[in-house]
Amino acid sequence: MPDQITITRPDDWHLHLRDGAALAAVLPHSARQFARAIVMPNLRPPVVSVEQALAYRQRIVDALPAGPRFEPLMTLYLTDTTSPAEMKRARDAGILAIKLYPAGATTHSDAGVTDLKRVGGVLEAAEREGIALLVHGEVTDPEVDVFDREAVFIERHLIGLRRSFPGLKIVLEHITTKDGAQYVAEGGEKTGATITAHHLLYNRNALFRGGIRPHWYCLPILKRELHRVALVKAATSGSGRFFLGTDSAPHAAALKENACGCAGCYTAFHALELYAEAFDAAGALDRLEAFASVDGAAFYGLPRNAGTLTLEKRTWTVPETLPFGDGELRPLGGGQQLSWAIAAPTDAERSRP
Ligand code: NCD
Ligand code: ZN
Repeated sequence: MPDQITITRPDDWHLHLRDGAALAAVLPHSARQFARAIVMPNLRPPVVSVEQALAYRQRIVDALPAGPRFEPLMTLYLTDTTSPAEMKRARDAGILAIKLYPAGATTHSDAGVTDLKRVGGVLEAAEREGIALLVHGEVTDPEVDVFDREAVFIERHLIGLRRSFPGLKIVLEHITTKDGAQYVAEGGEKTGATITAHHLLYNRNALFRGGIRPHWYCLPILKRELHRVALVKAATSGSGRFFLGTDSAPHAAALKENACGCAGCYTAFHALELYAEAFDAAGALDRLEAFASVDGAAFYGLPRNAGTLTLEKRTWTVPETLPFGDGELRPLGGGQQLSWAIAAPTDAERSRP
């Protein structure tokens, strides 16, 4: 087994960077590993217009630390009232995607779509302009069991959506079930999925190990072991339509360790190391580069990154806490050991654009 692997510099196709002091605290972690990231628009207020997206992009660029280049790829938050004309403006401004949050599905999603029928015109325009649709694929129907919401979303909404807009690139985000993996595997070249490191590494037992563990709570929630196994299979299958998206979602520790704790796992700090752990456990480290650095760019029709990133087999301990504005942040699995670590960049890597 190799004790070091070097891959093309990876991209994170689903990331929450927040804003202000939180942005400044977390951005260096992503920029250290990734060349690009698709940045989620669920700020408060949400990023609904091209103008807001470009202003947010500028705040990210202004907060970037010195070091290798990091390019934020911007998205718009789809609402019931998004105008179809915004899609052309988005394309002209280099905005890659629009994000569909069913209203109430997750953190900061109250401005989301209440009924897909209301956004048909926008989706048609997105299809025409080559803007991808990123989907938080969970129904919000309180009658539906929280562990079934992804599978029911596919049945009730995604199958119809796919049929209505055959030319639209659709990414089913952070898939968590064998149903999601199977749907995407059979979904044709315009359908892709991101998979988080935590859904590859953990099943729902992690939420209740010796007590309730709020730092393992995210949406979509961790599922049964059989689903985790299906996700590992999809990520390591070589299919090309499953790619890396951390869904790293920082919340101050006090808001997660709470009577009504926020959903979201913070994984940007050690993202590549977590993925390496998962791929290593599956005996598939040779597939990590395609998943992390090749397939997502190909799906979006973007060039591959120029630089490289090296991981070495070396045990280290994830810190328990990290600074986060006025509060603190608890990275997922803080205090635990990982067996892969990002190697310090060589001078040649450091001088790459
Ligand atoms: C995300 C957040 O905190 O913004 N939370 C999460 O559990 N993943 C929202 C999301 O992507 O669902
Ligand atoms: Zn997310």
